[in-house]
This record gives sequence, structure tokens and C-alpha cells, in this order.
Amino acid sequence: MLDVIEKAKGRSVTIQSPGTVANLVCGFDILGLALNDPCDVMTVKLIDRPEVIIHNVDDYNLPTDPQKNVAGVPLLDMIERLGNQVGFDVTIEKRIKPGSGLGSSAASAAGGVVAANHLLGNIFSQNDLVQMAMLGERLASGVKHADNIAPCITGGVTLIRSILPLDITGISSPPLYVTIVHPQIEVRTEDARQILRKQILLKDAIKQWGNIAGLVAGLMKGDYELIGRSLEDVLIEPVRSILIPAFAEVKAKSLEAGALGGGISGSGPSIFMLSKDEVTALAVESAMKEVYTQTGIAYYTYVTTINKEGVKIIG
Ligand code: HSE
Repeated sequence: MLDVIEKAKGRSVTIQSPGTVANLVCGFDILGLALNDPCDVMTVKLIDRPEVIIHNVDDYNLPTDPQKNVAGVPLLDMIERLGNQVGFDVTIEKRIKPGSGLGSSAASAAGGVVAANHLLGNIFSQNDLVQMAMLGERLASGVKHADNIAPCITGGVTLIRSILPLDITGISSPPLYVTIVHPQIEVRTEDARQILRKQILLKDAIKQWGNIAGLVAGLMKGDYELIGRSLEDVLIEPVRSILIPAFAEVKAKSLEAGALGGGISGSGPSIFMLSKDEVTALAVESAMKEVYTQTGIAYYTYVTTINKEGVKIIG
């Protein structure tokens, strides 16, 4: 290991870390997919002191104290695992707005550890990286969850069957377009988790696990109708949707425009819709714009596809 560290000192790598849609409507904390747009960009350099130095090159004013930064905490854990023989200098250019529901904290947490691991000759396994990156999620939301982290690292659609022990599996999917509207308001994941009911009724659980199984089967079989029918959430959406202006209208108009279905992206406020083809995805974008223009709230939209690679080395 000493050899690997010696060789890597002073080297740097630049990566692109994708945004993600967690939950996929019915799969709270257990399903997620990676997006081709938006993505963060990070450069990580190995230094010979056991510390993390953070430079933010964006306007979000995020903490540079590594103990308070979602990329910093996982890297501090990696340094400890390496016996405090090395450190990291990290430059973060966030293009995924914090508090958007598009996996901004996961992109920083996962991007940092994947980049550092690359410099070290990939000595850590994918599960190790997910474990480290989840420490960033715990800092951001108070709870460890991997439904943004896992797809961010691996790309594609992922199922997190369990986080203790970690059990992650990729789910194949047919071509899908993702249309997103991101209202420019911030919903903190921690707040969006606190308002959830702690207990649920058996009849609701039955509906929910029918939908989760239906969604996974639909994705693996390429059955668009089954995917559409399964994008239903009877547990979380009824509670969280009150935090998102015009949620019901966006959903109704998007379905009218031909979307298969969709709902809250992660903990919101972004709303995502899946479509079979680009023409429909663009019609869904127009429908979302029409609704949001009437609210008077500023917003961004994205029309993108599923990112199959996850965190990518670009330099
Ligand atoms: N599964 C998490 C939640 C994702 O919904 O709280 C947060 O991005």
C-alpha cells in the first residue's frame, strides 16, 4: 500500500459526477437512477499530509471545513482507512444545485471517493466506496441512505436491497427519457424526512410493494406499460407533495402529454417524469413549463437520459 501511495502523491484526476433521481416514486430509499444531466465536476489531488483541503468554485457558499462538507467527511474516512499516510486537495464545481432533489450531496460524496480511489489504483471496492460516501449523506440528511450514492457510482438504475449489510444490484432498463422540472426553492432532505409518518397500514404496504415489484419487473422486461402503472406512491408522495408548488398539476399535465409516469425526485422539490421517446419527453417539458410559468416561481427544466457509466474520469 505504501508503494501505491508514494506513486500517487502529487497526481490529480478530474471527474464528472452525475445527478441522480432517488426513490423512483415507489421505492423510498431503495431505488435510484443516474442522469446524464446535470453533473458536477471535481478535481482531486493527492497530498502528503493527512488532511482534506476543499476549494469551492461555484456560488453555493458550501462549507470548506471538511468535517462539515459532504465530500470532506467520506475522504476523511478514507484517509483513516489508509492509516493517515495521505491527504486530498479537492476542487468542487457544483452544477447540481444543493437542495434540488437531484442528488447534489451524493454527487459530491461519491465523486470525491471515486476520484481518490482512482488515484490510489482502485484499492477500495465499490461497496467500500458506497460505505464511505454514505457518511456524506448522513451529514446532509441525518441518515445513511444509498439510493443516490449507488447509482451515482455505478450508473444505471440500482436497487439497494439493504444497507446493513450493503446489498446493491443493478437493474437493466429499456431506453427511457427523463424530464425534470426544478423549482428554484430549497427543500432540505432532513426536513422532508422528518414530516414522514413513522408507521404505515398493511393495506398501503401491500400496494407499495406491488408497485416496487412491478417497477423492477417492468424495467427488466422492457414493459413500458407496467413501468407506467407501477410509478405510484401511496406512502411518501401524499405527505411530501404539499412542499412542492403545483405538484398535482405538473403530474396531471405530464401524463396528458404522454409521460409513462413520475413523481417527486428524491426528497424534492424537483419533479421527474419518464417517457418512452424524446418527442414525448419534450412535450412533457413544455407541459411542465406551462404549469410553472403560471406559478410565478423560477424554475429550470432538463430533458435527459439514464447515465450508464456513473462517476466518469474526464482528465
Ligand atoms: N431516499 C431519500 C429520501 C433520497 O427520499 O429522503 C434523498 O435524496
